[in-house]
Amino acid sequence: MEGGSSCRRVALVTGANRGIGLEVCRQLASSGATVVLTARDEKRGATAVDALRELGLSDVVFCQLDVGEPSSAARLADFVMDTFGRLDILVNNAGVSGVRMDVGDPAALHQVRTSMSAAERLEWFNQRTAEPFEEAEECLRTNYHGTKNVTEALLPLLLSSSDARVVNVSSSYGLLRYFSGEELKHELDDIDNLSAERLDELSGLFLKDFKNGRLDHRGWPVGGFSAYKVSKALINAYTRILAKKHTSMRLNCLDPGYVKTDINFHTGVLTVEEGARGPVMLSLMPKEGPTGSYFNGTEQAAFM
Ligand SMILES: NC(=O)c1ccc[n+]([C@@H]2O[C@H](COP(=O)([O-])OP(=O)(O)OC[C@H]3O[C@@H](n4cnc5c(N)ncnc54)[C@H](OP(=O)(O)O)[C@@H]3O)[C@@H](O)[C@H]2O)c1
Repeated sequence: MEGGSSCRRVALVTGANRGIGLEVCRQLASSGATVVLTARDEKRGATAVDALRELGLSDVVFCQLDVGEPSSAARLADFVMDTFGRLDILVNNAGVSGVRMDVGDPAALHQVRTSMSAAERLEWFNQRTAEPFEEAEECLRTNYHGTKNVTEALLPLLLSSSDARVVNVSSSYGLLRYFSGEELKHELDDIDNLSAERLDELSGLFLKDFKNGRLDHRGWPVGGFSAYKVSKALINAYTRILAKKHTSMRLNCLDPGYVKTDINFHTGVLTVEEGARGPVMLSLMPKEGPTGSYFNGTEQAAFM
C-alpha cells in the first residue's frame, strides 16, 4: 500500500480556481494528496487544474461545485463516491465579502498597497464599502449555508475515511467580539445547547433585522461587513457543533490572515503561500490534534 495511489489522502477544496483555495490545492497536491479541485465555473476550474498540472502536479481532478446550490453538492458527493469511495480532507474555502466596493482611482489602490499599515488598509476599505441587502443575502447563502450544505452532502464520505479532517476557512471577523448583544454572544458560544437548526434560524433573523435596518435590535455586528461577520461567526459555531458530534474526525476553523487576493483587491499583507499555511496544516495535522477549535493562521486562538 505504501506510496500507492489507493492510500493517498483524498482532499477536496471549494472555491479553488483562484486565491487561497488554489494555493491550498497546490500545497496539498505537493504533499502527495490526490486533490479534487472544485469551482463554480467549469472553465475557470479547468484552467486552474491545467496550471497545477503544468507545475508537475498530475494528481488533481476537477469537479464543478457551486456551494450555494444543494443539487450541485449532491452531484459532487456522487462523483467523489464513484471515484474514490471516501473523502479524507475537506477544505471549505469558497467565500464572498458581502459588500460592494467602490475603490475609485486605481492609483489610490497602489498607494494603499504600498504605504498603509494593515489596520489602515482595512479602515480605508470600510469607508468605501456599501452593504446592499442582496449582497448580504448572498454572503449568508455562500459562506454559511453553502459551507454547511457541502459538508452535509460529503459527511457520509468523510465518515468512510478512517481519519478525516474538515477545515472551514473563516475569518477574524467571525469572532464574537464583533457582536454587541450579550444574549447573542452567549448563545453562539454555548455549544452544549446550540444546534445547527438554531444557526439557520439566526441566519434568517439576521437578514430580517438587516432588511429592516435594525441591526442594533439584537446586537448584530455593525461598522461594516455585518453579513460577512455573521456568516463567519455562524460557521465557527457550526464547526464546533459538528466537532462535538463527530469525534472520529478533526474539524476546525481558522482565519488565514490578511492575504493578497481578489476579495480585498490584493491589499492584504500576506502572500497566498503564507495564507494557505494554516488550512494546509489543519488538513494534514496528526489524528490526536485539536478539534472544534479556532486558529489564527497556524496558532490556536479563542472564539471571542
Ligand atoms: N484574503 C483574505 O485576506 C481573507 C481573510 C480572511 C478570510 N478569508 C477567507 O478565505 C476564503 C478564500 O478567499 P480568497 O481571499 O482566496 O478570495 P478570492 O480570491 O475572492 O476567492 C474566493 C473563491 O471563492 C469562490 N466562490 C465564491 N462564491 C462561490 C460559490 N457560490 N460557489 C463556489 N465557489 C465560490 C470564488 O469563485 P469565482 O472565481 O467563481 O468567483 C473564488 O474561487 C474565503 O472564505 C474568505 O472569506 C480571506
